[in-house]
Amino acid sequence: MPKINFVSADGVTRTVDIPAGWTLMEGAIQNGVDGITAECGGGCACATCHVLVSTPWAEQLPPMTPAENDLLECTAVPRSPQSRLSCQIPVTGPLEGLTVHLPERQT
Ligand code: FES
Repeated sequence: MPKINFVSADGVTRTVDIPAGWTLMEGAIQNGVDGITAECGGGCACATCHVLVSTPWAEQLPPMTPAENDLLECTAVPRSPQSRLSCQIPVTGPLEGLTVHLPERQT
């Protein structure tokens, strides 16, 4: 079960085990990670599961779909080149140790 690190906007790291096949968003919600709202439940419709993924991890993630790219224009904190939607990122074994940063707010 890959360990994923979520770093809050104020710099606190929370490490959680997320089963392969879940999304980052599902793992965050199931483990009570603050800072992910996920109002649409993973339907790529709310942009409240915004995370920031730095290189080199960003290069290991699946490419962004046009729908995710469009929705990233609607995040509460403006998107950056590191922005992704955590409901669109499936957890896989090679993502062991992935670190994602959480924006200051989701709504
Ligand atoms: S949970 Fe709504 S877009 Fe990700």
